[in-house]
Amino acid sequence: MFLEPHWRVLTIGDGDLSFSYCLAQQQSVATVVASSLDSESEVIAKYRHQYTQYFKENKQEYYPGLDINKPEQFPKTLQGRFDAVIFQFPLITAQASRRKLTSHQYSSNLLNRQLLHHFLRHSKQYFLDPNGPMVAIITSKDVKPYCHWNIEGSLNHGLSMPYLGWLNFDLDAFPNYRIRNVDRDKFVKKTLAKSYYFAAKPSPLLAKQVTANRYAGARFCSLCRCGPMLTQQEWAQHQESKRHQQMLTFEKDWLAWLNER
Ligand SMILES: C[S@@+](CC[C@H](N)C(=O)[O-])C[C@H]1O[C@@H](n2cnc3c(N)ncnc32)[C@H](O)[C@@H]1O
Repeated sequence: MFLEPHWRVLTIGDGDLSFSYCLAQQQSVATVVASSLDSESEVIAKYRHQYTQYFKENKQEYYPGLDINKPEQFPKTLQGRFDAVIFQFPLITAQASRRKLTSHQYSSNLLNRQLLHHFLRHSKQYFLDPNGPMVAIITSKDVKPYCHWNIEGSLNHGLSMPYLGWLNFDLDAFPNYRIRNVDRDKFVKKTLAKSYYFAAKPSPLLAKQVTANRYAGARFCSLCRCGPMLTQQEWAQHQESKRHQQMLTFEKDWLAWLNER
């Protein structure tokens, strides 16, 4: 993960705080402020190993109960203080999924896209310092269903938070970090993951570090992240495929939600 040493970093939705703990221990950035969606007592009850005590003992700032969807509840003390905000392996909670099932309104795909869109929107509006580089980083697995969220495409529509590119996420660089399952005291299996970088300001240094979206060209399907397709026939076959049709449905629902806002 590329982070500049002088950056002030806020983490969002850090289940057991192990990622924030690693960042703080490594002293590779200027400051680390941690947050979790769960309250402190929920974190303690949920995870046998967690780092709330470390944050207390070391007088490191930690904000439990921070819901990225609810800007009206954001603590004022976090306003405009950060160079980068990081959300590692975002995923809606089981409670959010259940709400979806009872209301029959939104798919999991849509709810996860909303979560990430809110992360980008609210990081920019509330947490990032307008005098800094204004970077937001999402790390996510590169397999289904996560690759159905079109992170490199329409996630940031209407936000003036351009997508810069990705870097492979190297878990071995964070020795005590255990990627947590969303609602359980379980670890997520080690699979390929990428950190996706967004920034409200142009950053030639960052642009040099990351790999740009390779599926953006004319011969690629940016939704399905495949190609190049060299003939009309290949295109036609792809467009008729189940995979493409499913992505089209996700995208249509997503754009409809964005337009309703
Ligand atoms: C798969 S877990 C990953 C946990 C942790 N970031 C890690 O890397 O181990 C997904 C996390 O997203 C968090 N999350 C889900 N909805 C959220 C929201 N609205 N605001 C903040 N965090 C949220 C959950 O609390 C959970 O900790």
